[in-house]
Amino acid sequence: MTRTPSPDDKFSFGLWTVGWQARDQFGDATRPALDPVEAVHRLAELGAYGVTFHDDDLVPFGSSAATRDDILTRFRAALDETGLVVPMITTNTFSHPIFKDGAFTSNDRQVRRYGLRKVVRNVDLAAELGAQTFVMWGGREGAEYDGAKDLRAAFDRYREGIDTVAAYIKDQGYAMRIAIEPKPNEPRGDILLPTVGHALAFIGELEHGDIVGVNPEVGHEQMAGLNYTSGIAQALWAGKLFHIDLNGQRSIKYDQDLVFGHGDLLSAFFTVDLVENGFLSGGPRYEGPRHFDYKPSRTEDMEGVWASAAANMSTYLLLKERAQAYRSDPEVAAALEASRVLELATPTLDEGETLADLIADPAAYEDVDADKLGEAGYAFVALNQLAVEHALGAR
Ligand code: GCO
Ligand code: MN
Ligand code: MN
Repeated sequence: MTRTPSPDDKFSFGLWTVGWQARDQFGDATRPALDPVEAVHRLAELGAYGVTFHDDDLVPFGSSAATRDDILTRFRAALDETGLVVPMITTNTFSHPIFKDGAFTSNDRQVRRYGLRKVVRNVDLAAELGAQTFVMWGGREGAEYDGAKDLRAAFDRYREGIDTVAAYIKDQGYAMRIAIEPKPNEPRGDILLPTVGHALAFIGELEHGDIVGVNPEVGHEQMAGLNYTSGIAQALWAGKLFHIDLNGQRSIKYDQDLVFGHGDLLSAFFTVDLVENGFLSGGPRYEGPRHFDYKPSRTEDMEGVWASAAANMSTYLLLKERAQAYRSDPEVAAALEASRVLELATPTLDEGETLADLIADPAAYEDVDADKLGEAGYAFVALNQLAVEHALGAR
């Protein structure tokens, strides 16, 4: 049975998702343009709580100041009427030809200065609309050819750009954090900061990294053959999971942006389990929006667009129920015990024990029968079968 969400579920959608006209590399648009005001009303009716957008999704690139004001007034009125909030805003630094070699890392310094101005202008809009998260997806920050970039300089310029924006956010006193969105490729042949791990390491090199985290997207990690749940887990562990982009991807190929759960369903189950139920041993939790960054397939008409938006939320809620059942099943508790999963939370050294103490402990090494210790299985397959059965609703 389909599940119907409420704003308490904290579901949000990008204007560019339901508004995608399905123009792709090989074909024209298959759907009409969608008025952002209508998108706000339809999303609110479906039970979403938030809407997000790139500057240009709402105010077309190059609009006059008067047009911009009119659009923003109409948009604000729609937010007021529906109660929808804007938890996140992002900047389009990839569509216009000026950004064909990137924004913060374009070889052309004039382009970089322009990109920085566009981003900072959008930070002000984000603050005005009360957004707490400012996503930066550097889709054009990269290259097709290894000789096209001086990579040391590219990282320096990327850092300069993000640190400048972060410093501005602090100077203005905005209650806002930056979330970098990794992606391995597409539209560039190779994109800088291709995975969660690269982005986390980069953040460690920033001057204002305290307000910079990540916005991992399911499909982007899976495009690189990586495990999304473990990627967001590491970001969460590091205190850096500021936002998430949920969608579906079927293996290593172009960015599919399918409905959440329409790619690797079991992976989606464990993603929801982590987001909703936290780590098995407690620790930091993700409290932000459950944001869908998907594209309604090109085959769908407008009715199909709204059905697909509802499908993201329904699938998420179904998986949430399934994950809760999994966590509260005594058989799962027994299987976790049998697999010694919870034992991992016990530190390897006793409290106060030093490495010298460990070295002096024959029970830790000299007296260990390694062959015997290597005999026992971990019964992970049985545990995983329980997860599959819960995910299928068979328990
Ligand atoms: C993609 C990306 C983008 C970004 C968005 C935010 O599918 O390649 O997800 O949609 O999330 O542009 O800036
Ligand atoms: Mn994507
Ligand atoms: Mn995204």
